Amino acid sequence: MLPRMAQVLGEGTGARRADVWLKVGSELRPAATWPTGDGAPAGALAIRGEDLPQISGVDQALPVRHHGELLGALAVAMPPSEPITPTQAKLLADLASQAGLVLRNAKLIEELRASRMRLVAAQDQERRRLERNLHDGAQQQLVALAVKVKLAQVVAGRDPQKTEAILTEVQSDAQDALENLRDLARGIYPPLLADQGLFAALQSQARKAAMPVTVDADSLGRYPQEAEAAVYFCCLEALQNVAKYADASSVRVKLGIEDGELTFEVSDDGRGFDSATTPLGSGLQNMADRLAALGGTVEVQSQPGAGTTVRGRIPVPA
Ligand SMILES: Nc1ncnc2c1ncn2[C@@H]1O[C@H](COP(=O)(O)OP(=O)(O)OP(=O)(O)O)[C@@H](O)[C@H]1O
Ligand SMILES: [Mg+2]
Repeated sequence: MLPRMAQVLGEGTGARRADVWLKVGSELRPAATWPTGDGAPAGALAIRGEDLPQISGVDQALPVRHHGELLGALAVAMPPSEPITPTQAKLLADLASQAGLVLRNAKLIEELRASRMRLVAAQDQERRRLERNLHDGAQQQLVALAVKVKLAQVVAGRDPQKTEAILTEVQSDAQDALENLRDLARGIYPPLLADQGLFAALQSQARKAAMPVTVDADSLGRYPQEAEAAVYFCCLEALQNVAKYADASSVRVKLGIEDGELTFEVSDDGRGFDSATTPLGSGLQNMADRLAALGGTVEVQSQPGAGTTVRGRIPVPA
């Protein structure tokens, strides 16, 4: 769709080159160029607010908007001796004003693709973390255990006292390895969450937090495992952020069910932040991706000095 748009723009205006730009996140990225492969713009441009950034190397650039929201831009570079005529300029303006819907769809598709890629990358990273954890933890412990058992075998016949000492060690090492594996399993899917659901699992986490955390839940039942896990890990990330940045005196976690959606809210009375100038970290991005993958949404409300509230919702079967 976008290459076709670049072509219509280029042929209609007699341009030497026509570019379609797409806004992705807070950047303007070259999305299509006509003729293809002919000196496409090199890189992305940073966008501030809803204004079109300066695009260099072109004669005319117009923003493409949909309901006022900046979605991209159309730009043409004219042949050196043929400046753009009023008719051509009007065609460019018409195309720019009609391109909103097309760019909006392209943007949605691009965002979906990017969020899928982030989810896959996050899963890979999580797998590597587990592999390292198993390798450095339980695996090493079991190797050491096997060595000790062998040693006990060797000395068993002739030195009962030493054998006894080694076996005592073996017992406590086995206990350590077990604890280690339990911790790991808890991190993957907390048993309390599986057994007793969100309220109990979050309450238990709340008790371990450094600041006072209250957990409220109205008539909460049990929901599909992936929905409960998403809400659980989102609340944990929000609580972790509070502990890391907020300097709050208390935090409140609220869980509920509203219009067939499982909802959560984590609000603190800490220092807050300015979302316009604070870059999104992977914590909040993962939250958004994780919920979006299940048809849910998240919003963060914060203001310097006025605390932070993270609200999310996810559809669940009645
Ligand atoms: N409750 C909060 N109070 C104050 N600032 C916050 C709060 N939550 C988030 N922030 C701000 O928002 C930023 C982005 O948070 P996010 O969780 O996305 O990333 P991060 O915590 O910095 O990194 P990561 O989560 O990947 O370890 C934080 O760096 C912090 O500046
Ligand atoms: Mg974080």
